[in-house]
Amino acid sequence: MSLARLIYLSDSNEVITWKLVKDILSVAQENNKLQNITGILLSQGLHFLQVLEGEELDIQELYTHIKNDRRHGNLQLLSCESIDQRQFGEWSMKGVEFIDFDKDKQKKILDKYCQGGEDFYLPEDPQQCIQLINDFGLTRST
Ligand SMILES: Cc1cc2nc3c(=O)[nH]c(=O)nc-3n(C[C@H](O)[C@H](O)[C@H](O)COP(=O)(O)O)c2cc1C
Repeated sequence: MSLARLIYLSDSNEVITWKLVKDILSVAQENNKLQNITGILLSQGLHFLQVLEGEELDIQELYTHIKNDRRHGNLQLLSCESIDQRQFGEWSMKGVEFIDFDKDKQKKILDKYCQGGEDFYLPEDPQQCIQLINDFGLTRST
C-alpha cells in the first residue's frame, strides 16, 4: 500500500463552463469514491489544475484515462510522489472555479503565482500549486 499524490496541468479544448466542470465531476466523483481517490480540480481560464490522491497504482491508472480524454490536451505532469497523508481527503473530487473567488483574492493569487498577462498560466511548480490551493483556503489534512 503506497499513498501518492499526482498533480498535472492541462488546457481545455473548449471554453470551461460550470456545466463542463459538472459533467466531469459527476463521473469523477462516482469513480473516485469506488477507488478511494480524492482530490481537487481547479479551473482557471482555459486551464485545469488537478490533484489526485490515492493508492499509487490507482491514480496512475486513472491518469492514463484522463490523458486520453478529448475534452483537454497538453497535459503536463508536474509530480507524482509518495505522501504520508492526504491533503484533499475530504473530497472524492472537489471542483473549484477560479473566477468564483472574490476579485481581491484573485488578484493576490495572480500576482503571487501566475504569469502571462490576460491568458495567464498556472504555476508549474507542484509545491506552488499546493500553496495556491492552500491560499484559497481549500486544503484540509486527513
Ligand atoms: C480535467 C479532467 C479531469 C478528470 N478527472 C477525473 C477524475 O478525477 N476521476 C475520473 O474517474 N474521471 C475523471 N475525468 C474523466 C476521465 O477522463 C474519463 O472520462 C472517465 O474516467 C471515464 O473513463 P472511461 O470513459 O475510460 O470509462 C476527468 C476528465 C477531465 C477532462
